[in-house]
Amino acid sequence: MIKNLSEQLHSFGLCEPRNYYIPFSDGQENGRRTDSKRFVSLDGVWSFRAYASLEYVPDDFCGQELSQKIAVPSCVQYYGYDFFQYTNVRYPIPFAPLRVPRKNPAYQYSRTFSVNGDETYYLLFEGVDSCFYVYVNGQFVGFSQISHRMSEFDITAYVHAGENRLDVVVQKWCAGTYFEDQDKWRFTGIFRSVYLLCRPQQHIEDYKIETFVSGGEAEVRFSYRRGTAPAEVCFGRQKKKVRAGKTVCFSVRRPRLWSAETPFLYDMTIRAGGETIYEKVGLRTVEVRDGTFLLNGKPVKMYGVNRHDFHPEKGAAVSEEDMEEDVRLMKSLNVNTVRTSHYPSAPEFYKLCDKYGLYVISEADLETHGTDTVGEAMNGVSWIRKLSVLTDDEQYRDTYIERQIVNVEVNKNRPCVLIWSLGNESGFGRNILAASREVKSRDPRPVHYEPVTYIERPAESDVYYSDVVDIQSRMYPSFEWLRDDFLSDTREWRPLFLCEYAHAMGNGPGGLKEYWDIFESSERFMGGCIWEWADHSISYRGAPFRYGGDFGERTHDNNFCVDGIVTADRKIKSGTLEMKKAYQPLWFRKEGNTLKIFNRNYFAPAKGALLVTYKNYGESQGEESREISVPPREWAQIACRTAQTVHVRFVLQEEQNGVPAGTCLAFENFFEEAFVPQVCSAEIAAEEGLGELTVRTGDVEAVFDKLSGEIRSLRYRGRDFGGVRLVLWRAKTDNDWNVHPAYREAADEAREIVAEGNSVVVKGHFVRESLKPLFSYESRYTFTADGVCVETKWQGSDYGEYVPRFGLCMKLPASFSALRYCAYGPGESYSDKHLGAYKDVFTSDVSREYEHKYVKPQESGSHFGADFAELSDGNIVLRAEGMQSFCAIPYSADALSDAAHDDELPASDAVYFTADYGMSGVGSNSCGPKLPVRYRFPQCGKGRIAFRFSEKQ
Ligand code: GAL
Ligand code: MG
Repeated sequence: MIKNLSEQLHSFGLCEPRNYYIPFSDGQENGRRTDSKRFVSLDGVWSFRAYASLEYVPDDFCGQELSQKIAVPSCVQYYGYDFFQYTNVRYPIPFAPLRVPRKNPAYQYSRTFSVNGDETYYLLFEGVDSCFYVYVNGQFVGFSQISHRMSEFDITAYVHAGENRLDVVVQKWCAGTYFEDQDKWRFTGIFRSVYLLCRPQQHIEDYKIETFVSGGEAEVRFSYRRGTAPAEVCFGRQKKKVRAGKTVCFSVRRPRLWSAETPFLYDMTIRAGGETIYEKVGLRTVEVRDGTFLLNGKPVKMYGVNRHDFHPEKGAAVSEEDMEEDVRLMKSLNVNTVRTSHYPSAPEFYKLCDKYGLYVISEADLETHGTDTVGEAMNGVSWIRKLSVLTDDEQYRDTYIERQIVNVEVNKNRPCVLIWSLGNESGFGRNILAASREVKSRDPRPVHYEPVTYIERPAESDVYYSDVVDIQSRMYPSFEWLRDDFLSDTREWRPLFLCEYAHAMGNGPGGLKEYWDIFESSERFMGGCIWEWADHSISYRGAPFRYGGDFGERTHDNNFCVDGIVTADRKIKSGTLEMKKAYQPLWFRKEGNTLKIFNRNYFAPAKGALLVTYKNYGESQGEESREISVPPREWAQIACRTAQTVHVRFVLQEEQNGVPAGTCLAFENFFEEAFVPQVCSAEIAAEEGLGELTVRTGDVEAVFDKLSGEIRSLRYRGRDFGGVRLVLWRAKTDNDWNVHPAYREAADEAREIVAEGNSVVVKGHFVRESLKPLFSYESRYTFTADGVCVETKWQGSDYGEYVPRFGLCMKLPASFSALRYCAYGPGESYSDKHLGAYKDVFTSDVSREYEHKYVKPQESGSHFGADFAELSDGNIVLRAEGMQSFCAIPYSADALSDAAHDDELPASDAVYFTADYGMSGVGSNSCGPKLPVRYRFPQCGKGRIAFRFSEKQ
């Protein structure tokens, strides 16, 4: 029987952690790792068997034929085993450290491999969740845990020439589970690659490459840390011999420095014992000086995202191609930084970041967040103490340290790694102090750990201001804290990084412009990483996207896993464009007929085509194109013509660091406002009926409901367009969780309705049982020959944080789907989220206006800064003017509010057209700060919205 090791924190039989490399045979050219003759991939189809727990694994399990098959790497849940479960903070197992459930599913993976038997054989696993036992030819080789570590076993003594059998038994839970409580789907299995390295008996094991740059020179230091074969290291034309324990140096004149903008890599070749290792060396410096983070001496900003391993159809089992796709997509979206939340990425990911140019905050596989929610078991303990209960308990110290070592040692030679992060959300305590010391004893790069914030009374604490971290970090702080508190803390000596900000869940994130205005205001701000890169929505067996709770799990956190700046299948959303714009490398200003261009880069010129389009309310008036090359941190200027709209785009003419030629990396739109809304009025004939008031002018007839104050029916030339209602509700966005539900339930009630001259005046309020009136208004409907103008004064109350919106809503026939508008488009836009959009005249179709990308339906498709919007069925045009924003989508706010998944929305029966006096911003309050007051719909105010009908020309 397998000895159950799942309730303790040690691994057995592993080689010492070393830096990641793939040896090739001497004489072999460099290539992908699979090209190496020394690399034998064990990825592919394995035999498989699932057990309810280790107890059911028979004694002769290594001799058994397994009838099931599974792909490696993979997560067993995608093969119908176990179940999908998403939890954020809460532990998915009972909290009884270090016990794990007796019903702890176990999975046996089995396959054969062949070797010639006269070399040294290493078996490597790049990631297995959560722990595993390795058997070669029926003999126990070792046991490993820490899911995202590289586990290397020397299996030479266990193999023979010819075919060998490999059995791996994985357990779902282990003691390590207490330290891997990251916000993610709880997947199981061999989820990263497995391979053999067939190496000569004498070989190099571990080496460290360090670089030093100063003046116009650089030095590359190669330290041979462990190994048996003497090595010859080539760098450029320099060649040096080195033995274990020794260091050799290479000097570089006029070094070309590595940065995300200029990811220049030098080749290094290491020959030892018949092997060749092809290394890439990036020359760069990283330091914190005078409260500023400097890369190559420059106060670079980090345009970042947090990245988990995730693929909607494979879970955590992302391939090298998936990673490369992510990296290239990030580059094309102006991202320059990745935090590997909350565990090290697969080693090849770092090489991609070196190659294409991404700064990496490499985080250790550590999070104990669930200690915070264990409830009764720790009654009376403050949440900070709870959160730190494992982290401050010395009996767990070794795992905190080991988790750092396997991060630092594997990735230490990667130039992309600028910062080490000790982990995420694990409170604070002795084990973190030890972890920090451990990292610092191994590598000089700055150390990051955001929960230093959790130190009790930080302002009085010497530990807080000590060098346990070299970078101060926060998650989701308010703009006020950044502006007012951080910079004025006189004891603070470190720069500030936001390891998480702009929670990208649902319709959002709003406020990117505020964040970046603040970040740009001081070199103490390093920028930050948006939470997070991609949604974790599951597509299982071809079904539409699903989230927590959709698989029958009892403990889950709903759609909190759907919070990426791109969708799970890496599609662009309006939030993506928002980020891309906030992160763009150029700023544009227009002063008269001069266009000024600033290159935000520190190292690379902005080289490409500048396309300038001139327009008059959407109508093109010509385009100019010219090549530009703006040196880093400099302004350039070019002449431009006068036009109502000047639209500028910066487009790459050549591929650049993985971003294809033709990609637009930056834009700006200069829209001169010259719009004057039309108002005129006509004589009306008003007629009182039972409970209603009818008004007629020219071609228009409106019937008011005297109880609700709404227009029950609005007719134009005899055709009924249904009602016009005042509304307060928008389908809650994920960020609207502080919005009071009463705004949906409240009914409009007229207290007074009178015809006055050519107008009808309605005084009313929105009420709901048990509550005082939520919102009162006075509207004056002034009729014209072809429409109506509604002037309203309002006064809100203080239910919840803000009123989602206030506007006039019409349900139009579905045939009114042709849309033309002048507002921020072509995607959706809001008062605090329209960086990625621009103001112009756009045509669209209502069927395209709702973003089917949030998985959980919510408010979407509005356009901010609206001058007008027109809807037409081809014959009649309905035009609205004067609103702050509008939306024309095929779903009602109720239908969106009631549906749990996009694919469950009812078939559309109409066009829901809402013209808003105002709409609150979207913010990022799903996890981030409250919506700033200036983006909340104002408590009182007034506005005028006009509707006009006409025959289509
Ligand atoms: C943070 C955490 C992330 C994620 C996020 C919410 O507090 O570090 O892992 O849970 O909140 O989406
Ligand atoms: Mg967490």
